[in-house]
Amino acid sequence: MDKKITVSAPGKLMVLGEHAVVYNRPCIVTAVDSRIRVTVEPRGDNLLVIDAPQLPNGHYKKPIDKLGSNKEKVPKEVAFVKKTVELLAQEKKLENGITVSTKSDFSHRYGFGSSSAVTVGTLKALCELYGLDWSKRKIFDLAYRVTLSIQGVGSGFDIAAGVYGGTLYFVTGGKRIEKIIDKPLPLVVGYSGTKADTPTLVRQVAELKEKQPNVVNEIFDTIQTLVEQGKNYIRKDDWVSLGDLFRINQGLLHSLGVSTPKLDDMCTQALVARAYGAKLSGAGGGDCMIALVLDKEKSAVEKAIESAGGEVIPATTSAEGVRVES
Ligand code: MEV
Repeated sequence: MDKKITVSAPGKLMVLGEHAVVYNRPCIVTAVDSRIRVTVEPRGDNLLVIDAPQLPNGHYKKPIDKLGSNKEKVPKEVAFVKKTVELLAQEKKLENGITVSTKSDFSHRYGFGSSSAVTVGTLKALCELYGLDWSKRKIFDLAYRVTLSIQGVGSGFDIAAGVYGGTLYFVTGGKRIEKIIDKPLPLVVGYSGTKADTPTLVRQVAELKEKQPNVVNEIFDTIQTLVEQGKNYIRKDDWVSLGDLFRINQGLLHSLGVSTPKLDDMCTQALVARAYGAKLSGAGGGDCMIALVLDKEKSAVEKAIESAGGEVIPATTSAEGVRVES
């Protein structure tokens, strides 16, 4: 076997509905055309080798049949690749070893979903390598199991963006995954300069919900209503009304305690520069914010985000889902 397969998977940005989507509500997510490339190559031995520049010797090595045998500490990306191979090996007997190499278009700091893109990319590349004709749904389900077994929490919206691409309406765990549109949204993305830790923020919201169940459930219900509305506005290109929903969603996320002064300031400055709406995107506590803005106001909004200390990140949305490159 001298086959070598390269696939690429997109990153993601949450558009509306973060946190509520962890609790059986819908969200809207868009795939971002900053991609992670995964190359897999069969080996003559029985080892899984992961090229990982973060490791002292540059790669991780282990016999494929021993992957699940202990709780070793490995970099996040290595953990996701390793778990993906381990779960796939439960579905299909892997005769040979494999080398997996990954390369990213974007910094993992931005919160564009490097772990989910690596997982989806690795799984798709292995399906190609072994001639497995898996549906998108089957790839989603196994990749989501990988996320849950490593992080313990997560709605799976990021996995769906990687597999299906476009802008999606998504309900917890993939109960519903519907394409809304395939064309880009008029967004400007600003990075706050701080990396957020999603599981910590999800736990923080869970604690608040425990203390204030009625109030937090009502906030989630309102978020659900705005996601349903948002889906219609996106279909109609009604950016002014979608902007209203961005502002309301940001207010609700602030009340859940997941915004930060920096994210608030970046959103406020974007609105002062006449963005239709602005909100944090993702777990909060750092990572990125997004502003809804038409071309003529774009450069003013970008400057406003920078004046608040943010870094503008070029990002094309509604990107294609995972695809084979060669
Ligand atoms: C994190 O980017 C978004 C959350 O809703 C978590 C999740 O949906 O997995 C906070």
